[in-house]
Amino acid sequence: MGWNFDEPVIREGTNCIKYDLRKEIFGNEDVIPMWVADMDFKTPEFIIQALTDRLKHEIMGYSFRPHEYFSSIIDWSEKRYNWKIEKEWICFSPGIVPALNFCTLAYTNPGDKIIVQPPVYFPFFSAAELHGRKLIYNRLKESDGSWEMDFDNLRESIDEKTKMIFISNPHNPLGRVWYPDELYELSEICLENNIIMVSDEIHCDLVLPGFKFTPAASLSDRIASDTITCIAPSKTFNLAGLSTSSVIISNPELRKSFNSVVEKLHVGNGNIFGTIASIAAYTHGHAWLDELLKYIESNVGYVLEFCSDRIPEIVPLRTEATYMIWLDCRSLHMSGKELQSFFVKEAGVGMNEGSTFGPGGEGFMRMNLACPKATLIKAMDKIEKAISKLR
Ligand SMILES: Cc1ncc(COP(=O)(O)O)c(C=O)c1O
Repeated sequence: MGWNFDEPVIREGTNCIKYDLRKEIFGNEDVIPMWVADMDFKTPEFIIQALTDRLKHEIMGYSFRPHEYFSSIIDWSEKRYNWKIEKEWICFSPGIVPALNFCTLAYTNPGDKIIVQPPVYFPFFSAAELHGRKLIYNRLKESDGSWEMDFDNLRESIDEKTKMIFISNPHNPLGRVWYPDELYELSEICLENNIIMVSDEIHCDLVLPGFKFTPAASLSDRIASDTITCIAPSKTFNLAGLSTSSVIISNPELRKSFNSVVEKLHVGNGNIFGTIASIAAYTHGHAWLDELLKYIESNVGYVLEFCSDRIPEIVPLRTEATYMIWLDCRSLHMSGKELQSFFVKEAGVGMNEGSTFGPGGEGFMRMNLACPKATLIKAMDKIEKAISKLR
């Protein structure tokens, strides 16, 4: 079956954060929204069908997650990543950001230190700081346009108060997949120092053709015993509004602590539609996802070529995973605020400004490419026009 990712979908008037909050966020409701990680593609018909079928039973009472919920996750993970997970390892969370916060509560105490590697998805910061934990930055190193983890600095920044690290794998906003040797080295450091590694793998399915994703916990049983893996169908199938995600924990003690937080907060019920959508997505989603990835790859290629040919002032980092592209705008010599205002006011394009992802993000913009090609072409043309006025 062919899917038409070119089809425009009118999202205005649906209480959609990406479109309906443009005035509040950018001060302009006409800006082309290329910011929050939410796709402009229709939810695939096999998910809509499953939800529609469930609606025919007109009672939405308390429900539990059936066997297929777990088996669909297990099959998906084995087929796509050759990672065998067991049913008991799968814990529920009503979202990945909540899961990061649960980890902070489950595995650390006030005053403990949690490491993050910026520039990175900014809710990592609040998941530590809002609970009175100390945030430690181990900045990613950039050299010759490629970014890597700084293991020397990481070793130096660890002390007896350091209890946990949050990693984004694949990495948002850089769109990088971490390679097995990098994950090994990171895990070794964590294991040596009794640091729990929380691997946020929400973007794991969005790995572009030619690149390979490695679940950190799949590397060895030893690494798995120290790793908490967060996954969800929400980015892959655009289901974030259904608040349904999974946290894979093979270590029984770590699992018990995590589940105890979820139980104490009474947030483990989930919701009927999230369960149904998750089962449909993981059971029927392979072919749709493969098509989606080709489409995103073509959008990435468009931006790479466009910048290289027509706006050399902007240097995009080659996206390997996610549907984001990280644009190096440092040659424009603008502060973060100035960049945001320039792209909104002069180009009419709303993106995420790099410094919001923490140190190292200054001078960059993150652009969301999960949109029909026609939208992307329009946005790039507008950016080119705005930049040409600066020349
Ligand atoms: C790395 C990462 N983690 C988590 C989330 C959000 O997860 P949730 O909506 O399930 O809380 C996002 C959304 O963009 C993300 O990029």
